[in-house]
Amino acid sequence: MTTLKWWQTAVFYQIYPRSFADGNGDGIGDFQGIIEKLDYLADLGIDALWLSPHFPSPQADCGYDVADYCDVAPEYGTLAEFETFLEEAHARGIRVILDMVFNHTSEQHPWFLESKSSRDNPKRDWYVWRDGQIGPNGERLPPNNWESTFTGSAWEYDPTTDQYYYHFFLKEQPDLNWRNPEVRQAMWDAVRFWLDMGVDGYRLDAIGTIYEDPDMPDHEAGITLLDLYQMGQAAQTDAEREAVGEMWKALFIHQVDRDDEMHPLMKELRQVVDEYEDRVLVAEDEDIAYHGTGDDELHLVFNFPLMRREEPLTPAHIRANQAERLAELPEGAWPCNALGNHDSSRVKSRFGDGVHDDELARLSLALLLTLRGTPFLYNGEEIGIPNAVFTDVAQLRDTFALRQYEVAVNAGMPEEQAAAIVCARTRDRCRTPVQWANAPHAGFCPPDVEPWLPVQPNYAEGINVADQQADPNAMLNFYKRMLRMRKATPALIAGDYTPLLEDHAECFCFLRATPEQTCLVVLNFSAEAHTLAFEELAAQRLVFSNAARETPGDLAALDIAPFEIYIAEVT
Ligand code: NOJ
Repeated sequence: MTTLKWWQTAVFYQIYPRSFADGNGDGIGDFQGIIEKLDYLADLGIDALWLSPHFPSPQADCGYDVADYCDVAPEYGTLAEFETFLEEAHARGIRVILDMVFNHTSEQHPWFLESKSSRDNPKRDWYVWRDGQIGPNGERLPPNNWESTFTGSAWEYDPTTDQYYYHFFLKEQPDLNWRNPEVRQAMWDAVRFWLDMGVDGYRLDAIGTIYEDPDMPDHEAGITLLDLYQMGQAAQTDAEREAVGEMWKALFIHQVDRDDEMHPLMKELRQVVDEYEDRVLVAEDEDIAYHGTGDDELHLVFNFPLMRREEPLTPAHIRANQAERLAELPEGAWPCNALGNHDSSRVKSRFGDGVHDDELARLSLALLLTLRGTPFLYNGEEIGIPNAVFTDVAQLRDTFALRQYEVAVNAGMPEEQAAAIVCARTRDRCRTPVQWANAPHAGFCPPDVEPWLPVQPNYAEGINVADQQADPNAMLNFYKRMLRMRKATPALIAGDYTPLLEDHAECFCFLRATPEQTCLVVLNFSAEAHTLAFEELAAQRLVFSNAARETPGDLAALDIAPFEIYIAEVT
């Protein structure tokens, strides 16, 4: 255990600053609010925070459009308040990593304002500018047929200089030209700015999109992203969903994953970060190649294939995922698992079956905390907030969803249909304010203030922190128990992983073992009881169970209750 780094033993908790806690009562989360909740977080039992972007931003993409990499958004507080937050977190033994958005800036960033001011501005080449084309009828056309992943052309015309700039995301998020060494230098300066202040590392946003094919050939996918959304909507089977994934790759083939340039860049970044002691880099990417040779690029890479699924988790899915990921991991690299974040739907809804959502959400946590690797939790999961339900596009704040709606309606889709699609998919579903109490606006902000995104009415039905604190059976106390149990069980943190009973359709069973301790974990994902035989094993001690059980039982004929989470020390 002593040889592990802090980020290998830690449980991370993602804070979405706009929705976490509102300290100044303006309906928007802020650092004052976060500071006030640090004791709550320490008591919950997490070890590190990942803060979604807190930089000044016009908020076209909820902070992922950064207008200044070395300051704090005024609605979230001041740099001094940030420093207080960092000190207070550290004082409680909680580390803090920030969200670094490399691929693009805000269109309001001074770098971009300069870049667009004239073709010969010294910062012109900091972004990706190209001439347009002239169409058959003399009309102006973008440089090629590339699309933005947020729908529509990836090119925006700028009349001042009569050229187009490239944006993989919103037009408010122009892509930086990372082939320009000045851009790299400016970004490494920003990276050092926060590391100098003492932050413990970074989550790296959308790194796969940093470089695009410099020759900029048209893609030949033969479809638009809108077509793909409709295909995605209609897809029923895994094969159909996979086909949609393949089409997505064809559509963006020239715009993402330029590995030849990315790996040297990540090595360069790693050297910058290694100037400091004990910091961590986490990729918003699933590509294990970002570990480099094991320890010369990024420390952690999210296991997105585990979470990307819109139906309950199954043992078969988890087993196949673990077999593949762990086999690919280079020597010296460490896994990293998450089941939710600010871009996905809520764990409680996504992995629920509509009947046993609570049981399945508890199993999701148990899975994250017992699998090999560093777990990341997302704010609000600990009280089981489900997806928010929206009925009207006017309720949405997610610009991505609003653009999808616009593009669909402009392409002739009836408004009602387009609204139904975006309300069902919007990322706002998981971004509503954290529910602190059974009080107006769930205690997030004062009764007479409108929160930036509507609070879910289910706070009145027990989905709030205060009520759950008082209820030993509530999700929140289950989170606390499990987090404490993990911390006290070295095999679950440092142990090897060995799957058992690999043909079992409903129970996911495995061992986690260090030389000092071996734990048997059984997660029953079904409403059925099962009797399992682990003949080679003898139980020593019950570590955890959510069923009525006081002893670990007989492992030769172990009765497992419906949806039971069973962990025992064994030999
Ligand atoms: C990934 C972030 O998680 C997402 O929220 C954002 O919209 C895009 N990157 C663009 O920065």
